[in-house]
Amino acid sequence: MINQEIHITYEEYHSLGELNPEDRELVTEAIQAMQGAYAPYSHFHVGAAVRMSNGQIVRGANQENAAFPSGICAERTAMFAAGSRFPDKDMLSIAIAGGVLGRLGRYPATPCGACRQVMAQYQAKSGKPMSILMVAEDKILKFEKVDDILPLIFKSI
Ligand code: THU
Repeated sequence: MINQEIHITYEEYHSLGELNPEDRELVTEAIQAMQGAYAPYSHFHVGAAVRMSNGQIVRGANQENAAFPSGICAERTAMFAAGSRFPDKDMLSIAIAGGVLGRLGRYPATPCGACRQVMAQYQAKSGKPMSILMVAEDKILKFEKVDDILPLIFKSI
Protein backbone atom coordinates (compact mmCIF):
# COMPACT_ATOMS: atom_id res chain seq x y z
CA MET A 1 0.00 0.00 0.00
CA ILE A 2 1.20 3.51 -0.82
CA ASN A 3 -0.20 6.68 0.72
CA GLN A 4 -0.89 9.16 -2.07
CA GLU A 5 -1.63 12.85 -1.79
CA ILE A 6 -3.68 15.26 -3.86
CA HIS A 7 -2.42 18.81 -3.65
CA ILE A 8 -4.70 21.77 -4.33
CA THR A 9 -3.68 25.41 -4.42
CA TYR A 10 -5.87 28.47 -4.77
CA GLU A 11 -5.58 32.22 -4.54
CA GLU A 12 -7.32 34.31 -1.90
CA TYR A 13 -8.12 37.97 -2.57
CA HIS A 14 -9.44 40.44 -0.07
CA SER A 15 -10.95 43.05 -2.34
CA LEU A 16 -12.33 43.38 -5.85
CA GLY A 17 -9.51 45.80 -6.60
CA GLU A 18 -6.89 43.07 -6.15
CA LEU A 19 -8.35 41.00 -9.02
CA ASN A 20 -7.29 41.39 -12.63
CA PRO A 21 -9.81 43.46 -14.66
CA GLU A 22 -11.44 40.44 -16.34
CA ASP A 23 -11.99 38.59 -13.05
CA ARG A 24 -13.24 41.77 -11.42
CA GLU A 25 -15.81 42.21 -14.18
CA LEU A 26 -16.93 38.59 -13.90
CA VAL A 27 -17.28 38.75 -10.11
CA THR A 28 -19.28 41.98 -10.42
CA GLU A 29 -21.59 40.26 -12.93
CA ALA A 30 -22.07 37.29 -10.57
CA ILE A 31 -22.99 39.63 -7.71
CA GLN A 32 -25.49 41.43 -9.96
CA ALA A 33 -26.87 38.09 -11.14
CA MET A 34 -27.98 37.33 -7.55
CA GLN A 35 -30.88 39.70 -8.26
CA GLY A 36 -32.32 37.10 -10.62
CA ALA A 37 -32.64 34.45 -7.90
CA TYR A 38 -36.04 32.92 -7.28
CA ALA A 39 -35.60 31.33 -3.87
CA PRO A 40 -38.92 31.38 -1.97
CA TYR A 41 -37.96 28.26 0.02
CA SER A 42 -34.30 28.64 1.00
CA HIS A 43 -34.11 32.45 0.72
CA PHE A 44 -30.52 31.83 -0.36
CA HIS A 45 -29.80 33.91 -3.45
CA VAL A 46 -27.03 32.75 -5.77
CA GLY A 47 -25.71 34.40 -8.92
CA ALA A 48 -23.22 33.02 -11.43
CA ALA A 49 -21.47 34.50 -14.45
CA VAL A 50 -19.63 32.56 -17.16
CA ARG A 51 -16.99 34.14 -19.40
CA MET A 52 -16.95 32.70 -22.92
CA SER A 53 -14.01 32.56 -25.31
CA ASN A 54 -15.71 35.20 -27.50
CA GLY A 55 -15.69 37.66 -24.58
CA GLN A 56 -19.41 37.33 -23.85
CA ILE A 57 -20.55 36.93 -20.26
CA VAL A 58 -23.63 34.81 -19.54
CA ARG A 59 -25.39 35.08 -16.18
CA GLY A 60 -27.64 32.78 -14.21
CA ALA A 61 -29.34 32.66 -10.83
CA ASN A 62 -30.86 29.85 -8.76
CA GLN A 63 -34.47 28.97 -9.50
CA GLU A 64 -36.43 27.00 -6.93
CA ASN A 65 -39.64 25.03 -7.33
CA ALA A 66 -42.27 23.59 -4.98
CA ALA A 67 -41.28 20.17 -6.32
CA PHE A 68 -37.82 20.60 -4.79
CA PRO A 69 -35.70 18.50 -7.19
CA SER A 70 -37.05 20.54 -10.09
CA GLY A 71 -35.15 23.63 -9.00
CA ILE A 72 -31.67 24.40 -10.27
CA CYS A 73 -28.52 26.11 -9.03
CA ALA A 74 -27.22 29.40 -10.37
CA GLU A 75 -24.11 27.78 -11.82
CA ARG A 76 -26.00 25.28 -13.95
CA THR A 77 -28.52 27.93 -15.00
CA ALA A 78 -25.59 30.04 -16.26
CA MET A 79 -23.60 27.20 -17.84
CA PHE A 80 -26.61 25.67 -19.62
CA ALA A 81 -27.62 29.09 -20.92
CA ALA A 82 -24.03 29.73 -22.05
CA GLY A 83 -23.80 26.31 -23.73
CA SER A 84 -27.11 26.89 -25.49
CA ARG A 85 -26.29 30.41 -26.67
CA PHE A 86 -22.70 29.76 -27.73
CA PRO A 87 -22.38 26.04 -28.47
CA ASP A 88 -19.09 26.51 -30.36
CA LYS A 89 -17.36 28.67 -27.74
CA ASP A 90 -15.38 27.69 -24.66
CA MET A 91 -16.28 28.49 -21.06
CA LEU A 92 -13.10 30.04 -19.70
CA SER A 93 -14.18 31.09 -16.24
CA ILE A 94 -17.15 31.10 -13.84
CA ALA A 95 -17.77 33.37 -10.86
CA ILE A 96 -20.27 32.51 -8.11
CA ALA A 97 -21.74 34.78 -5.47
CA GLY A 98 -24.39 33.95 -2.89
CA GLY A 99 -25.95 34.76 0.43
CA VAL A 100 -29.15 34.85 2.45
CA LEU A 101 -31.70 37.21 0.88
CA GLY A 102 -29.12 38.57 -1.53
CA ARG A 103 -26.56 39.65 1.07
CA LEU A 104 -23.11 38.15 0.42
CA GLY A 105 -22.21 35.58 3.07
CA ARG A 106 -19.11 35.35 5.24
CA TYR A 107 -18.43 31.92 3.76
CA PRO A 108 -17.78 31.87 -0.02
CA ALA A 109 -20.43 30.55 -2.39
CA THR A 110 -18.98 27.10 -3.03
CA PRO A 111 -20.61 25.11 -5.85
CA CYS A 112 -22.43 21.85 -5.13
CA GLY A 113 -21.15 18.53 -6.46
CA ALA A 114 -23.59 18.40 -9.36
CA CYS A 115 -22.48 21.83 -10.58
CA ARG A 116 -18.81 20.83 -10.27
CA GLN A 117 -19.48 17.80 -12.45
CA VAL A 118 -21.13 20.00 -15.09
CA MET A 119 -18.15 22.40 -14.97
CA ALA A 120 -15.85 19.40 -15.44
CA GLN A 121 -17.65 18.35 -18.58
CA TYR A 122 -17.58 21.80 -20.19
CA GLN A 123 -13.89 22.07 -19.30
CA ALA A 124 -13.24 18.69 -20.94
CA LYS A 125 -15.30 19.76 -23.99
CA SER A 126 -13.16 22.85 -24.49
CA GLY A 127 -9.83 21.28 -23.57
CA LYS A 128 -8.89 24.48 -21.73
CA PRO A 129 -8.85 25.10 -17.98
CA MET A 130 -11.99 26.75 -16.58
CA SER A 131 -11.17 28.95 -13.60
CA ILE A 132 -13.60 29.33 -10.72
CA LEU A 133 -14.08 32.40 -8.56
CA MET A 134 -16.04 32.01 -5.30
CA VAL A 135 -17.19 35.21 -3.69
CA ALA A 136 -17.76 35.98 0.00
CA GLU A 137 -18.49 39.21 1.82
CA ASP A 138 -14.82 40.01 2.42
CA LYS A 139 -12.86 37.60 0.28
CA ILE A 140 -12.71 35.92 -3.12
CA LEU A 141 -11.20 32.50 -3.75
CA LYS A 142 -9.80 31.66 -7.18
CA PHE A 143 -9.13 28.15 -8.45
CA GLU A 144 -7.31 27.76 -11.77
CA LYS A 145 -9.18 24.71 -13.02
CA VAL A 146 -12.09 22.43 -12.22
CA ASP A 147 -9.71 19.61 -11.20
CA ASP A 148 -8.83 21.74 -8.16
CA ILE A 149 -12.38 21.61 -6.82
CA LEU A 150 -13.27 18.15 -8.14
CA PRO A 151 -10.30 15.80 -7.80
CA LEU A 152 -10.58 12.42 -9.54
CA ILE A 153 -13.20 13.79 -11.94
CA PHE A 154 -15.59 11.22 -13.41
CA LYS A 155 -14.99 11.14 -17.17
CA SER A 156 -15.16 7.48 -18.07
CA ILE A 157 -17.86 7.49 -20.75
N1 THU B 1 -27.48 26.88 -4.76
C1 THU B 1 -26.90 27.39 -5.87
O1 THU B 1 -27.54 28.04 -6.69
N2 THU B 1 -25.58 27.18 -6.06
C2 THU B 1 -24.78 26.53 -5.17
O2 THU B 1 -23.58 26.41 -5.41
C3 THU B 1 -25.33 25.94 -3.97
C4 THU B 1 -26.78 26.11 -3.77
C5 THU B 1 -28.89 27.15 -4.53
C6 THU B 1 -29.81 25.97 -4.63
C7 THU B 1 -30.96 26.42 -3.77
O3 THU B 1 -31.82 27.22 -4.57
C8 THU B 1 -30.33 27.31 -2.72
O4 THU B 1 -29.06 27.69 -3.25
C9 THU B 1 -30.15 26.67 -1.38
O5 THU B 1 -29.48 25.48 -1.46
